[in-house]
Amino acid sequence: MATGSILVTGGAGYVGTHTVVELLNSGYDVIVMDNLVNASMESLKRVNEITGKTVQTCAVDLLNKDGLRDIFKKNKIYCVMHFAGLKAVGESCEKPLLYYKTNVGGTVNLLEVMKEFEVYNIIFSSSATVYGSPNYLPIDEKHPTGGCTNAYGKTKYFIEEILKDICTAEKQWNVILLRYFNPVGSHASGKIGEDPQGIPNNLMPFISQVAVGRRKELTVYGTDYDTPDGTGVRDYIHVVDLAQGHVAALKHLEKGCGCKVYNLGTGKGYSVLDMAKAFEKASGKPIPYVTAGRRAGDIASCYSDASLAKQDLGWEAKLDLAKMCEDLWRWQSNNPNGFRTEGSS
Ligand code: NAD
Ligand code: UD1
Repeated sequence: MATGSILVTGGAGYVGTHTVVELLNSGYDVIVMDNLVNASMESLKRVNEITGKTVQTCAVDLLNKDGLRDIFKKNKIYCVMHFAGLKAVGESCEKPLLYYKTNVGGTVNLLEVMKEFEVYNIIFSSSATVYGSPNYLPIDEKHPTGGCTNAYGKTKYFIEEILKDICTAEKQWNVILLRYFNPVGSHASGKIGEDPQGIPNNLMPFISQVAVGRRKELTVYGTDYDTPDGTGVRDYIHVVDLAQGHVAALKHLEKGCGCKVYNLGTGKGYSVLDMAKAFEKASGKPIPYVTAGRRAGDIASCYSDASLAKQDLGWEAKLDLAKMCEDLWRWQSNNPNGFRTEGSS
């Protein structure tokens, strides 16, 4: 049983807001900590609207250790769900130090403060990117990690290693590493969703911006992969399923779990063209596209074996591709400029 609040770092962001909704709906007390570098307070106002509760929010940076201490001083924290960090792959290659400082340095700060306040429970947002180019499919948790080609991916790998090391050294820690496959979609209300700044790097936000008229056409990166239609295959997971996976992980942690690692995916792979077609169907809008060469660092196929999460956490993804696209379209069409009321880029 949680004997205090759940501190959600990065709780104003895409996966964070959806997880805060599920935590509140499951009866947990939640405190959000976010420096709002890639989010706005509007997202948390929407969380309040959806849940009918008011989330306590602290605008603190992971690098501000005294700010972190202050949160732990004023609140009884049971567990930290750690989403905060930078996540743009391209930017991480241009500014690796910023990524190592924020993601790795920020996490070390957080862990030190947790230790000072004797809070030893943490659930970390990792990524399937730690597997690098897969040796086999579907990818299970035993697959080797560390073959990441970009600084962002390496920060996830390094943080995983740090968390494993502290668990080995100090037995009081309970750590769950959640390796997300490709989160997409939005809360069914259409009130919260992914709101990338500038031109989206990821496929589904780009497709939804084409559908809503913010972008002319999709560029399909690579048509010569060894996949059924030649385009890249990924394991897209509805963000609400992903958020519920965090609640399931927390319930598992409450029993005392040591260090555990789980894939959160659906186990199914869809190609870029499958996704464009599914979105056309859900939105009723055409998704014109052009083809281009492969994007640097991309792999052909990546999908999960998520059976361990089902076995240990009693969790499995339930929402299908049509629902991912319908919910994303509701969010995008109701909020063509995301959380901003006017202007777009
Ligand atoms: P997001 O950018 O929407 O959320 C991250 C949040 O962290 C933002 O609200 C941002 O303002 C905050 N933040 C960034 N730096 C901070 C700092 N120094 N101090 C305090 N807050 C800070 O991203 P997301 O898609 O919600 O991802 C959440 C987590 O999941 C990230 O750690 C990301 O790397 C990981 N992840 C995401 C995906 C994905 O496709 N979305 C896939 C795998 C893993
Ligand atoms: C990307 C990141 C990965 C990160 C993940 C979640 C790279 C190389 N990888 O993964 O590290 O963890 O996002 O943030 O950036 N595609 C197009 N056109 C587009 C966009 C994407 O064809 O405009 C294709 C890609 O080539 C890929 C698929 O769509 O085949 C999915 O791309 P994306 O959504 O960016 O996710 P990943 O590449 O899996």
